[in-house]
Amino acid sequence: MIKCWKINNFNYIKKVVNNILGDKDRIISNEDIKELQILHSNIKKSKYRQKFHIQPVTGLLNDPNGFCYFENKWYLFYQWFPFDSIHGVKNWYLTVSDDLVHWKNKGLSLKPDKIFDNKGVYSGTSIIENGKLNIVFTGNHRDENNIRKPYQCIAELKNGKFVKKPPIIEMDSNYTEHQRDPKIIKIDDKYFIIIGAQNKNKKARLLLYSSKNLYSDWKLLGEIKINGYEDFGYMWECPDLIKIRDKYILAFSPQGLKQEGNKYNNIYQSGYFIGTMDFNNLEFFPDTEFEEFDYGFDFYAVQTANQDRYNDKSIMIAWMGLPDLKYTTDKEKWSGCLSIPRELKIVNSKLIQSPIEQIYLLRKKKIYSSITKRYSLKDINQTEIILNNISSSNFKMNICANQDKSDSGFEIKYDKINRKFSIDKSLLYNKSNADYGLTRFINLDNLEKLDIFIDSSSIEIFINDGQYTMTSRIFPDANENMLYFNSDMYIDIELWKLGNGVEDEFII
Ligand code: FRU
Repeated sequence: MIKCWKINNFNYIKKVVNNILGDKDRIISNEDIKELQILHSNIKKSKYRQKFHIQPVTGLLNDPNGFCYFENKWYLFYQWFPFDSIHGVKNWYLTVSDDLVHWKNKGLSLKPDKIFDNKGVYSGTSIIENGKLNIVFTGNHRDENNIRKPYQCIAELKNGKFVKKPPIIEMDSNYTEHQRDPKIIKIDDKYFIIIGAQNKNKKARLLLYSSKNLYSDWKLLGEIKINGYEDFGYMWECPDLIKIRDKYILAFSPQGLKQEGNKYNNIYQSGYFIGTMDFNNLEFFPDTEFEEFDYGFDFYAVQTANQDRYNDKSIMIAWMGLPDLKYTTDKEKWSGCLSIPRELKIVNSKLIQSPIEQIYLLRKKKIYSSITKRYSLKDINQTEIILNNISSSNFKMNICANQDKSDSGFEIKYDKINRKFSIDKSLLYNKSNADYGLTRFINLDNLEKLDIFIDSSSIEIFINDGQYTMTSRIFPDANENMLYFNSDMYIDIELWKLGNGVEDEFII
C-alpha cells in the first residue's frame, strides 16, 4: 500500500516537474523506459517509418555524430531527444553496422549528466587512439539565468561505457555563445579541433585549436582564414575537414545565406570547398566556390567517418532534415532520419557523391528492366530506380502519384530546351515547409543517368553518377503509391525492390 502510494506520488511529482520545466528539458532516466516503449509501439505503426534509413526509436533525431570505423564495425551516433518531435535536451544515440547498409540500434550512449552539458550533449566527432574510441562533443551548458556557455568536451569508451573527462576547451569570450560542433583530426603527432563560432559582429567563423595531448593543453591557434568568405552567414555549424588524396574538403552548414537563383533555397545550407589547408598560417585556399552538397529540400549537418579506412575517398552521411522546420510525423512524436551513407571522391577536381558501394546488398528483386518511353508501376515504396542512357531526353517522372492521375505526386523532370532538371513537391497531398518553396532546380547541360532511392518517407536522387544529388523527405498519403514515367525518347530503366536496412527495434 505504502509502496504503491510512493510510486504514484513519485510519478505525480515527476509529471508536475515536467510540466513546470516543459518537456524540452526532460532528461532521460530508467523510470522513463516504460513510457518510451509505449510511445515506440505507437510510432512503429506509422506508415512513414523508414525501412533502410536510420531513424529515431522515438522523438527527434538531428545531426549524425561520432561517425567512425572502430573494431571492425561502423559506429554512428545521432543527436536525440527521446520524448517528442521537438529540439529538447539532446543525447547521443548509437547505431552500428558491418556494411554501412544494415544498421542495428544499440541505445543511449551519452546523456546530459554533468554540469558542463546540463542542457544537452551537442554534436561532435570521434577519434581512435591506441585502439580506444574517444568522442569530442559540445557540452551545452546553461546557468541558472539561462545564459549559455558552451564547452568542448571529450569522453573515452571504457568497458562499453563513455567516461566523460573534464572539458578540454572553454568558451572564448571574444566570440558569442555560438561555439560548437568540434571536428577532431590528427596530423603527425598533433591533434587539431575545428569548431563553428560566431564573432561579436554576428559573422560566422571557424576556430582552430591544437594540442599534443588528447585530454589537455588545448590552445586556440586562431580563426581559419578563407579569402572572400568573411561575410558569409552568421553561423557555420558542424564543420568537417576531410582529406582525399592530396586535397582537403572543408565542409560546414552555414546559416544566414540569402537565396541566389537555384542556390541557397533551403532555410539553411550544407556545403563545401575543395582546396588546400595551411595549418601553419591558419588559412584554407579554396580551388572552388562554396558549393552545396545537395539540391533537394532536406539535407543538413553532414559528417564524414574518421579516415582510418581509406585515403582516396570518404564516407559521408547527413541529417535528412533541417532545423526550425516542421515535418508530417511531428504529430506522431517522432521526426528526422539520416541519409544513405555516400562515398565522396574527387574526380577531375570535382566532388562526386555516390551511394555507398554496398547499397547493392539491399537489392532484393529486379521487378522491371526495359528500354521504354512510358511505364507505370503500383506500389513504389522501397524501390531503387535506375535510368541509364537518358541522352538528355525530355522526361517526367511522378513518384508517389495517385492512381489514374499521372500529374500528381513528387515530380522529377528534365527540360532539355532550358537544360533544367527539377523536383516539385507541390502536387503531393502533404506539402511540408511550403514557406521555402515547393520546387528546386539545377541547371544541367547533360542528363545521362539517374539513380533514385525511395523509402517510406524519403527520396534521394543521384544525378549523372553523383555529379549532383537531390534529397527530400516526402510523406505520401495512402493513395499516393504509383509511379508514372514518360519520356520523348527510349530510356533504359531498371527497378529494384529493396530489402530492409534497419529494424524498428526498441532498444534504449
Ligand atoms: C545542428 C546543431 C548543432 C548542434 C546540434 C544540437 O543541427 O544545431 O550546431 O550541436 O544541432 O542538437
